[in-house]
Parts: sequence; structure tokens; C-alpha cells
Amino acid sequence: MIKVAPSILSANFAHLADDIKDVENGGADYIHVDVMDGHFVPNITIGPLVVEAIRPITKLPLDVHLMIENPDRYVTQFAQAGADIITVHVEACTHLHRTIHLIKEQGVKAGVVVNPATPVEWIEPVLEDIDLVLLMTVNPGFGGQSFIESVLPKIERVAHLVKTKGLQVEIEVDGGVNEKTAKKCVEAGANVLVAGSAIYNRKDRAQAIKEIRGE
Ligand code: DX5
Ligand code: ZN
Repeated sequence: MIKVAPSILSANFAHLADDIKDVENGGADYIHVDVMDGHFVPNITIGPLVVEAIRPITKLPLDVHLMIENPDRYVTQFAQAGADIITVHVEACTHLHRTIHLIKEQGVKAGVVVNPATPVEWIEPVLEDIDLVLLMTVNPGFGGQSFIESVLPKIERVAHLVKTKGLQVEIEVDGGVNEKTAKKCVEAGANVLVAGSAIYNRKDRAQAIKEIRGE
């Protein structure tokens, strides 16, 4: 089953509740929350306060993507704010195994993210410990960037590893996902599709979600 996770980075922050309900009614599976600190990535976005504020307005799992340095410092706060999935960048974790277990100790699902130029071999040693792998298909920091095709073989590689090891790990892609690139990601083995501008720049979000899901 293919899941769609609209990224609220492209929503109207003055009408965040409406924009979240709109995609929930439109068939979204997760709400993707992009947290940026101005250090790991050049942009600054939202923190635990916003996660806490949106928690009661949707039943969907909150998929919190931490694009921050030293994520260990904030994992507990995001978990207490209501995150259901917390993903951390492999490039930002000195002790990745420890960070993953810190997330799980909070009763939250743990995911690991790899940037386009980072080899997927970096996550192989922790694959058994995690619930989700997120492959960036743009360099993180901004919505509306173009899909990087060279990530497709990396998706295939992760899908192969997950299958041969018999794991229940979700494979998520993020960045430049639209109905065309979504199809390529799904063919390569992805099952969770994050999309920001391709959903929020459209009037009919339900239709956008359907097209991305390939329906
Ligand atoms: C990029 C973020 C993405 C972003 C995707 O740094 O992690 O989640 O919102 O936006 P689109 O779908 O517009 O590329
Ligand atoms: Zn993201």
C-alpha cells in the first residue's frame, strides 16, 4: 500500500489547521513536519510548539523530519509534543544507534534519513533497529526543488536490503515528488511519498494526493 505524506512546509502557516484538515479529508496517510534549525540546513522553520499545537487537530500520525544538528537534544521534546515518527539525519548523528534507541524509548517510531550524496551503506548497520528509511530526493532545506534522479538506484538498494532481511521497514522519499517522480520512486521500491508543493500548490488537494498515489 502506498502512503502519501503531505509536507506542511508548503502550507499557509496562517491557516495551518485548515490546510492540515484539507489533506486529511483528501486521503493523506501522514502529516510530514519539516523541522529546520538554520545550521544543519540553511533555513529555519518550526519547533516543538507547532507540533504540540497541531497534534489535537488531526488523527493522522505526525511524521517529524528533524533537519537539525545534535538531534539528541530535542528528541524528547518532539516526542512529548506528539510526534509519532521521528526521523534523524545520518549525517547529523555521531552515535546513530544511540539516537535511534533514544527515540524508541520515547515510544515513538524511529526513522533515519540519508541525503542525496550519502551512501545508503551508512544505514545498513541499523536497519534492523528502525521503522523507516527516508531517502532525500533533493538537498534538504527548501520546498519546491527539483527531484534528483540519481537517488533512484539508492531506493532500489534499500528496498532490496529490506526484502532480503525480511524487515518491516517503510521506505519514504522526500523532495521534488509529483505524480511523475512518485511513479519512479514506487517502481524503485518506495512506499511512503512526501510531497509539499505538488499538493499545497494545487487547489484540489484530494486530487493531487490521488495522482501522487498513482490512482
Ligand atoms: C525539504 C523538505 C521536504 C519539502 C518537500 O528539505 O524535507 O519535506 O517540504 O517539498 P517539495 O515536495 O515541494 O519538494
Ligand atoms: Zn521533509
